[in-house]
Amino acid sequence: MRHLMSPLDLSIEELDDLLNLANDIEKNPQKYAHVCDGKKLATCFYEPSTRTRLSFEAAMLNLGGSVLGFSSADSSSASKGESVSDTMRVISCYADIAAIRHPKEGAALVASQKSLIPVINAGDGGHQHPTQTLTDLLTIRSLRGELGNLTIGLCGDLKFGRTVHSLINALIRYENVRFVLISPEELRVPDYIREDVLEKNHIPYEEVERLEYAMPNLDVLYMTRVQKERFFNEDDYIRMKDFYILNKEKMKLAKPDMLVLHPLPRVNEISVDVDDDPRAAYFKQAQYGVYVRMALILTLLRWKGDLTC
Ligand code: CP
Repeated sequence: MRHLMSPLDLSIEELDDLLNLANDIEKNPQKYAHVCDGKKLATCFYEPSTRTRLSFEAAMLNLGGSVLGFSSADSSSASKGESVSDTMRVISCYADIAAIRHPKEGAALVASQKSLIPVINAGDGGHQHPTQTLTDLLTIRSLRGELGNLTIGLCGDLKFGRTVHSLINALIRYENVRFVLISPEELRVPDYIREDVLEKNHIPYEEVERLEYAMPNLDVLYMTRVQKERFFNEDDYIRMKDFYILNKEKMKLAKPDMLVLHPLPRVNEISVDVDDDPRAAYFKQAQYGVYVRMALILTLLRWKGDLTC
């Protein structure tokens, strides 16, 4: 039995198989409509979510399974002091697979250690968000045709943005990938990403503050929201929150085929006037999130031996 805590839990070959399965699900949804009949997914969300929780639930329903769970710590026995470890051990008696989101880094790993069912990290604090990364990879590969030979600009809150940390970790495994890290000084990527991931693996990158400077060279621009919930000081958040606003004018600086991605939710960092630009792919990205989570649920249940198909 395997869990998913980080995108690196999957080898390149396993990741390729998963993305191929997601593409097949997209093309032939009927083929998969009953493969999880009788199976249950538990969604254990200690932090707010729209896309991740509901796309996990849609994914299991699309596969013929059922869902149960909670959408806030307040509505679970965490509010009485129960540990994530005990909670997951108990949920193992009720469901076949679980997705957990928690504000604390490492909580999903702790939950997985006593679990009798596969556990998927649906976001742990400012650390990792592997299923968002699978979504991002599927979107880039489906719309560009490959994951290598890519200059990707990551823009916004690179310090607290867990989607950025997971995506960098995943993309360094492909040939000829270059990063442009676009952030204010206070929101630069953490040292462990710069030193242990980028520099240690000799990955080309530059850090810049001006989005306009980076735009003309990018194949993908990955915008992120400033993570209000992870700031210690509201004044700092207010000072930073509108640092970057991508609008129609700035899009004129980009390549004609540059993709704009965003894990969503957005606040002000992409103006709505960009939504109609054919390069804006963030709503397609949300749709790809369902296909890839369907593929992940199927894969983890197959590895556990719960599914024969
Ligand atoms: N992208 C993402 O994680 O969105 P939610 O917080 O709505 O799940």
